[in-house]
Amino acid sequence: MTTELGRLIAHRIALTGPISIADFMAEALGHPRLGYYRRAVPLGAQGDFTTAPEISQMFGELLGAWLAERWLAMGRPAPVRLVELGPGRGTLMADALRATRGVPGFHAALDLHLVETSVPLRTAQRAALAGFAPTWHERFDDVPAGPLLLIANEFFDALPVRQFHRTAQGWRERMVGLAPDGTLRLALTPGLTPFAAVLPDAPAGAEAEISEAGRALAAAIGARLHRDGGWALIVDYGYDGSTLGSSLQAVRGHRGAGILDRPGETDLSAHVDFAALAAAAGVPTFGPATQGDFLRRLGIARRAHALKRQASPEQGRVIDAALARLIAPDQMGTLFRVLAVGDTRSAAPAGFSDIPSDAT
Ligand SMILES: C[S@@+](CC[C@H](N)C(=O)[O-])C[C@H]1O[C@@H](n2cnc3c(N)ncnc32)[C@H](O)[C@@H]1O
Repeated sequence: MTTELGRLIAHRIALTGPISIADFMAEALGHPRLGYYRRAVPLGAQGDFTTAPEISQMFGELLGAWLAERWLAMGRPAPVRLVELGPGRGTLMADALRATRGVPGFHAALDLHLVETSVPLRTAQRAALAGFAPTWHERFDDVPAGPLLLIANEFFDALPVRQFHRTAQGWRERMVGLAPDGTLRLALTPGLTPFAAVLPDAPAGAEAEISEAGRALAAAIGARLHRDGGWALIVDYGYDGSTLGSSLQAVRGHRGAGILDRPGETDLSAHVDFAALAAAAGVPTFGPATQGDFLRRLGIARRAHALKRQASPEQGRVIDAALARLIAPDQMGTLFRVLAVGDTRSAAPAGFSDIPSDAT
């Protein structure tokens, strides 16, 4: 049994032919009424997944300190557009703002903009960020001009990807078409894809992904930073340097699912190609650093220690578990990476310098 959205997509394919995985993903996540991110609050224990800011307040606090330090380095512009892409429940931004209350002039200079398509999540963000008068936008391009401080945690992984498969003849694109019984199914294009020009040479059987939406957004952010000044920090799971492999995954209720299963009720995400984002940005970038190294360099061990001093033994164990989850190599520490995008050839910002990662 598919969903109403699954039937709509099948109808569209019956009328106009197979669609790319990227088009399928855009519909499944972003359909105005039935898309996954439009319908419900997907984060947290009741949802399909949890994210770093939902694991511990330390994550948002340290990112807040990073943003405030960059604002000081920029010469304290006022106003400065503080932008978050896909703020989820608003937890990261609330923690970042609480942690930076004491930075003289910072909050007075901030003009908060949230890029969010989900109506239920906008409601959660309004509650979490009451007092900061955010302005919401459907797209980054709608954020008004001016110096920029931007963060995006687990946002780029939700942007559509195309998938390719290398056959003996060359690269073909994987598409979503219809089986004889009218259900959705995956199939390769009969002919070779023009995207072969930007795909690496690889043996038959290889897989590759390209996110045109991710590259276009990185280019738009880079152009803004070049024009108006500022910094962006992109945190996500992904890879650097290799462009081969298929990473698109489907999750429903904290479990793996089929990519075509129950469109609109299933989360779809793909690993982020950081090298492609950095190249598309067209301005200086730093990293990607692993999330573990980045947070250690920002002093997460000291912050955990300070929190534990005021905590019960049980709360202390929760803090230790959260710390391990965020930075341990076998948890989020290595898979997640952090890329800083800036407007000047300055020294590396905090978190990216070559301090040995055990320096804290
Ligand atoms: C995986 S959640 C991450 C939430 C939050 N950053 C966190 O770390 O908890 C992705 C977020 O991006 C939003 N989102 C997804 N696709 C979007 C799009 N194309 N435009 C704007 N927001 C989008 C979702 O509604 C959600 O807030």
